[in-house]
Amino acid sequence: MSHDFDVLVIGSGAAGLSLALSLPSNVRVAVVCKGELKEGSTWYAQGGIAAVLDNTDSIESHVEDTLKAGAGLCHRDAVEFTVKNSAEAIRWLIQLGVDFTRDQNAQDYHLTREGGHSHRRIIHSADATGKAVHRSLTDAALAAQNLHLFTHHLAVDLIREASPGWKSYRCTGAYVFDRKKDKTELFKAKVVVLATGGASKVYLYTSNPDGASGDGIAMAWRAGCRVANMEFNQFHPTCLYHPKAKSFLITEALRGEGAHLKLPDGTRFMSNFHELGELAPRDVVARAIDHEMKRLGSDCVYLDISHKPRDFIEQHFPTVMKRCAQFGIDIASEAIPVVPAAHYTCGGVVVNHQGQTDLAGLYAIGETSFTGLHGANRMASNSLLECIVYAHSAAKAIEAQLPTLPESSAGAEWDESRVTNSDEDVVISHNWEELRSFMWDYVGIVRTRKRLERATHRIKLLQKEIQEYYANYKISNDYIELRNLAMVAELIIRSAMKRRESRGLHYSLDYPETSPIARDTVLVPENYAAQDVIISVTE
Ligand code: FAD
Ligand code: SIN
Repeated sequence: MSHDFDVLVIGSGAAGLSLALSLPSNVRVAVVCKGELKEGSTWYAQGGIAAVLDNTDSIESHVEDTLKAGAGLCHRDAVEFTVKNSAEAIRWLIQLGVDFTRDQNAQDYHLTREGGHSHRRIIHSADATGKAVHRSLTDAALAAQNLHLFTHHLAVDLIREASPGWKSYRCTGAYVFDRKKDKTELFKAKVVVLATGGASKVYLYTSNPDGASGDGIAMAWRAGCRVANMEFNQFHPTCLYHPKAKSFLITEALRGEGAHLKLPDGTRFMSNFHELGELAPRDVVARAIDHEMKRLGSDCVYLDISHKPRDFIEQHFPTVMKRCAQFGIDIASEAIPVVPAAHYTCGGVVVNHQGQTDLAGLYAIGETSFTGLHGANRMASNSLLECIVYAHSAAKAIEAQLPTLPESSAGAEWDESRVTNSDEDVVISHNWEELRSFMWDYVGIVRTRKRLERATHRIKLLQKEIQEYYANYKISNDYIELRNLAMVAELIIRSAMKRRESRGLHYSLDYPETSPIARDTVLVPENYAAQDVIISVTE
């Protein structure tokens, strides 16, 4: 079975839906996502969206804070582009109906603070900003006649063809696995957009939902696109530590509103590590916690906001309060046990300001992309902002390009005549666990050359097994995610091996110094698709 659209958007998070909604209503758009529409990181976002909204704040200040948090590796052009468009992005969300929290006099929006920001500039919807944003995006998407939404559809691979009249290859669609029908279908499109989110599921402990398996990065790499800075995996300092609490984040906005980080004996420690204390950039805070936990042999540290009035906590942090209460923790009277966990993929598919990748007809936006905004460490709440700003600029570029584009020439249906049903599914779950464990142990917050070499050895063996499986058995959701996770793990390890310094989120005991020259780690695939797009990378 095949489908034919003008634009195929893979992913229904903030990036994918914002782009789909920004295309003209005469453009036929398919949005595919691997679960329900809300199953991505966007839904879980807590803290908010950074933007210059207050006249005591300035674009220069937001730009400088971002550059500083990014440890010398942000691309100034990408930072300025994003921040200059921040107020417009928020206006668009407000018009869409997003219910952001008002301040006490209800005249203005309440702005909170998070690590690295020198101003209050995070607009939010209490501590459940992602839900508020995603609800408005979904309502609008369901009402839009030109959008066709395919839930439980997992993109397996992009289709890349050499086509006459084009300088090199172009993307003409994708193979998509319909999880309910257990069948792989051909989606033809003039333009394909990857909006598939990040890859933090590559680590054993993560704040991310299950689908964060780096599918877009792996698909783009296989299709011949460069990826950059994959060694910069952000670990969020404060995830709830409780044996039954899977992946629950305790928003940085708690620290923004005055929460203290404490050792098990109640002593505060962040001032020993950074002059901004609890509001230091995330890489510094996560490393400090890791250091203290290892030094004391402790399972966690504590985050304490109990010195604030109960009604303030209830008003600002209802989600965190409720979730902690389910585990018997009353955050208004006691400290919360917390640990760092993998949270955000700073690297990704190399794109320009319009989200164009190296492969003609293929765009990438949101967490799956590498725009240069985040450098070696993303500043809090700059991610949702990037999703909206780049979705809008990519939509404009696609709108301008569409009239000049040929119909998709993709023709070959998915062929599974030579594969059988697997009776070895246990292999997938074992490999999945093994991968995530060795990535946590060997490629985590603190790295060494020896650990990275061990990880290289393990990933080679795993990749071989996974390839053999692919050649012989019918695909499944778990298998496709494992294949992509292994690909992304390999890209992370290779990038980490190349970086012989410590910078931002990449900390190596063998190379503890920061090099005076900041360079991106750019990996180029063997089947590089180089289209005629100039993309800024520092090499
Ligand atoms: P996602 O929202 O992750 O969406 C990915 C989409 O792609 C999903 O629809 C998924 O089904 C689909 N998909 C993936 N692979 C495939 C495939 N192979 N086939 C089909 N579909 C596929 N950032 C902030 O700026 N502020 C915050 O307050 C904040 N809080 C956060 C809290 C948590 C707990 C987490 C996990 C992240 C937080 N972040 C925050 C980061 C931010 O939420 C994400 O970076 C952002 O939402 C990513 O949006 P996205 O659209 O790129 O991807
Ligand atoms: C948080 O609320 O702490 C997450 C913010 C972010 O990841 O940007």
